[in-house]
Amino acid sequence: ERSDALPRDLVGRRVVVSAGGTREPLDPVRFLGNRSSGKQGYALAKVAAQRGAHVTLVAGPTDLAAPAAVELVRIGTALELREAMHEAAKGADAVVMAAAVADFRPSDLAGHKIKKDGSEPPPLRLAVNPDILVELVAAREPGQVIVGFAAETGDETTEFLEYGRRKLARKGSDLLLVNWVGEGGAFENADNQGRLLGADGSETEVPHGSKALLAARIWDAVATRLT
Ligand code: CTP
Ligand code: CA
Repeated sequence: ERSDALPRDLVGRRVVVSAGGTREPLDPVRFLGNRSSGKQGYALAKVAAQRGAHVTLVAGPTDLAAPAAVELVRIGTALELREAMHEAAKGADAVVMAAAVADFRPSDLAGHKIKKDGSEPPPLRLAVNPDILVELVAAREPGQVIVGFAAETGDETTEFLEYGRRKLARKGSDLLLVNWVGEGGAFENADNQGRLLGADGSETEVPHGSKALLAARIWDAVATRLT
């Protein structure tokens, strides 16, 4: 990438990006987690900063170095992510939820390490986490552009894009990037591809390429929607 070739169309804009997976603790040493690497969210933050935005990156645990010129907020659980996103979204021009939020969390957090005692394992009881994207859409400020991500495989009855269209309608965001995740799909992968669905019915194919390239296409779509 030649930095002189990058558009500076996000100068004066404040954007918020979430990245990585959440960790839902069971006890002081164990958690439920997922395989999100955080790479797509970090790429989004980096590209937005290069295009001139003031960027807040709200990130779960990752192995990645903080991108330059980005305000980094660290979170662990989905509930912490929710607080951080609501705070950061105030006055923001755009919000992108690239984080892999745990749908469920253990309903009880043991204060001490859970021990095995030779009998049946204890049941794992789960509580439903709030849908942060839906909450952000409900709290959306005038003109704020909100973007979600969806990783779908499709199944015998429904192709992956149809799941994506339904998810966009359910979430109410302005844009939803739908990834196909099958063999060689998005998780733990350097590259990414998908289709960017708009609430206006638009559908743009994002060809296979780097996560930075996908990030650039997403910011292109956001920039045209900013007033
Ligand atoms: N998301 C969120 N809060 C949650 C779950 C998901 O904000 N509790 C966001 C994700 O960051 C992503 C979008 O919603 O931008 C779609 O996430 P996904 O897991 O695909 O959607 P779910 O509604 O959880 O549906 P599914 O049952 O397919 O997991
Ligand atoms: Ca989910």
